[in-house]
Amino acid sequence: MSYRVALNFEDGVTQVINCLEDETVLDAAYRAHVKLPMDCSDGVCGTCRGQCCSGNYDLGDEYLDEALSEQDAALGYVLTCQMRVTSDVIIDVPASSSLCATGPVTAQTKVTGVERLGGSTYRLTVDFDEPMAHLPGQYVNISIPGTAANRAYSFSSRPGDSRAHFLIKQLPSGQMSEYLSERAQIGDRLTVEGPMGSFYLRESDAPMIMLAGGTGLAPLLSMLRVLSDQGVPRPIHLLYGVNEPDDLAELNVLDELAGTLAQFTYTTVVVNPSSGHPAVGFVTDHFGSIPFASEGADVYLCGPPPMVDAVRTKIRDDAMAIHQLYFEKFNPSAE
Ligand code: FES
Repeated sequence: MSYRVALNFEDGVTQVINCLEDETVLDAAYRAHVKLPMDCSDGVCGTCRGQCCSGNYDLGDEYLDEALSEQDAALGYVLTCQMRVTSDVIIDVPASSSLCATGPVTAQTKVTGVERLGGSTYRLTVDFDEPMAHLPGQYVNISIPGTAANRAYSFSSRPGDSRAHFLIKQLPSGQMSEYLSERAQIGDRLTVEGPMGSFYLRESDAPMIMLAGGTGLAPLLSMLRVLSDQGVPRPIHLLYGVNEPDDLAELNVLDELAGTLAQFTYTTVVVNPSSGHPAVGFVTDHFGSIPFASEGADVYLCGPPPMVDAVRTKIRDDAMAIHQLYFEKFNPSAE
C-alpha cells in the first residue's frame, strides 16, 4: 500500500511522491530523487522539519524534544525522517525546490478541444502524455505555440485525469487569446510546466464559502470535483461573479455538482445593473444569500486583484468570524 505525499516548497513548486507503508517520508523522497533537507536522519537535529497541513501520519516516539517539541508537534510540525503516513498528506517544506534538487515537472500535452463557452471565456482541453499529479486548485504554465511565451492557468479538471481542462479569459491583445481564437488546431502540442501554487483544497470539516470572479472559477471547479468524489458532507456555497450574463461559464457543470454534492449550492452574480440578472452587483453585495452562517467557515477566494481585495476588506470590516481564508489573485491583463 502506498500514499501520495504532496511536498510544497517555499518557491511555490509542488512535487507529489509515493510513500510506501512503513517508509519514512524522507526515504520516499530520496527514492523519488528529491533531496529534502536532512542531517542526522535520526530524529536528533531537527533539520528535516516541515509542517503537515493535511492528512494523517505517525511520528513514533524515537525523536528528541530538541528536534521537535510537543507543542510544535501539536501544531502539525513534523520530522520527515520520522514521519510515516497513513493517508495522503500535504507537507509544507521550508526550502526551495531547487535546493532539494527538484523543480516543476515539464509535461507534453496535445490539444483535444478549444471551445468558446460564452462572451469572453474559452475552455482549453488537453490530453497529457503522462498524467500530472497536482492538488485541486493548483496551476501550471502553458506554452503558447509559435511564441516564446507561456501563461499560468489553473486546472478546472480533477487531479489525476489525463484529460485536463482550463478556463481562459479572452483578452483583446492577449497572446493566448490570439492563439485560441485564430490558430489553435486539434493535435497541437503544448508544453506544460508545474504544478504550482499554494491555493489548494485543505482537509477540514468546516462549512465552505467559495468566491469566484470570472475564470477564477477554474480552481474552485477542480476542488468541487474532488469534494464530489469524496462525498463530503460539508455545506458549500459558491458565489460566482462576472461582468455580463454571457460571461457565465460551466453552469451545466455546477448544476451536475449540485446534483452529486448534497449540500452544495451556488449563486451567480452579474456586475451590470441593467443586465436583468436576478443578482446584480459584486459578490460582496450578496454574502446574505449564503444559506448558512459564515462564522467558522473556510473561505476559498479566487479572482482579479480588485475583487480579492474587496472581499478581504469586507471580511475585515464586517469582522466576520471565518475559520480560514485561502485566496489567489490572478491578473488577466498581465497577458
Ligand atoms: Fe535530523 Fe530528521 S534529519 S531530525
